[in-house]
Amino acid sequence: MINEIKRLKKEKNAVILAHNYQIPEVQDIADFVGDSLGLSQEAGRTNADIIIFCGVHFMAETASIISPNKKVLIPDLEAGCSLAASINAEQLREWKAENPEAVVVSYVNTTAEIKAETDYCITSSNAVKVVNSIPADKKILFLPDKFLGQYVRAVTGRNMEIWDGACHVHEKIGDINFDAAREAHPSADYLIHPECGCSSSCMLKSTMYDNCKDIHIFSTEGMIHHVETSPKNEFVVATETGILHRMKKLAPEKEFYPANENSICEYMKMITIEKLYNSLLNDEFEVKVPEEIAERARLPIERMLAIV
Ligand code: 13P
Ligand code: SF4
Repeated sequence: MINEIKRLKKEKNAVILAHNYQIPEVQDIADFVGDSLGLSQEAGRTNADIIIFCGVHFMAETASIISPNKKVLIPDLEAGCSLAASINAEQLREWKAENPEAVVVSYVNTTAEIKAETDYCITSSNAVKVVNSIPADKKILFLPDKFLGQYVRAVTGRNMEIWDGACHVHEKIGDINFDAAREAHPSADYLIHPECGCSSSCMLKSTMYDNCKDIHIFSTEGMIHHVETSPKNEFVVATETGILHRMKKLAPEKEFYPANENSICEYMKMITIEKLYNSLLNDEFEVKVPEEIAERARLPIERMLAIV
């Protein structure tokens, strides 16, 4: 099946993009593995006719918005995201109607319909920069991730309402007991995804206290970069465990410990080699954002890609 995937990919001029949480076999056959921002950038750059998106639905939608002339396929349409599902367009329109002067800032984990109602999209790595670029007198509606929102509000001091949304995988990671973890792994660095339940307090600690300089808040690709460039040899990783495959491949001499080994996103794991093969063979399942929505969603995404 892997040989057939390679053959079909060439024959159809397709590119396989895979998120850092995909199963090892899918990561290994992908042309590009990365975080949501990197995958969006790659979707915009590629010369392929077909993009096979091995990730979740909102990511394939973002690729379709950025590359409207390419065919974007996702191997399983059920691969959703609990964070993106925590707000729908009707709820956002009501929230905006209650706050007509406010600026809407949305994390990239949102549906295309939400992006179409958004002023600025952000990723975990540029959230503070984007919010600081908005005129200081403007109120901000921040969605959907409450943990990232709490951190951005604390750092920027902005007048900000925050949607009560969370990712079920990261929320469960909860508060990390650093004293206990440091006893078990005294020289480790702590890599924490901003969607984690503890991230807002961790982010503040890492910026405020010298004895917390081993705490690093990163998007998944930021974690990969840190592992490659850090002189440290041990890392406690607080995010979905699929990323450990890539870390071990890139730095086999280093040790990685999941903060919670049950942090598994069942949506990301829906993509299998068999479904990837069927997707290539039968051109299934196309994700096409209607142009009237895509047109409105493009501006906040372009703003996100411009402020990195
Ligand atoms: P990244 O953009 O950091 O890859 O995060 C995407 C995601 O879904 C995290 O759960
Ligand atoms: Fe969504 Fe959470 Fe899965 Fe990421 S890990 S895709 S935020 S449900």
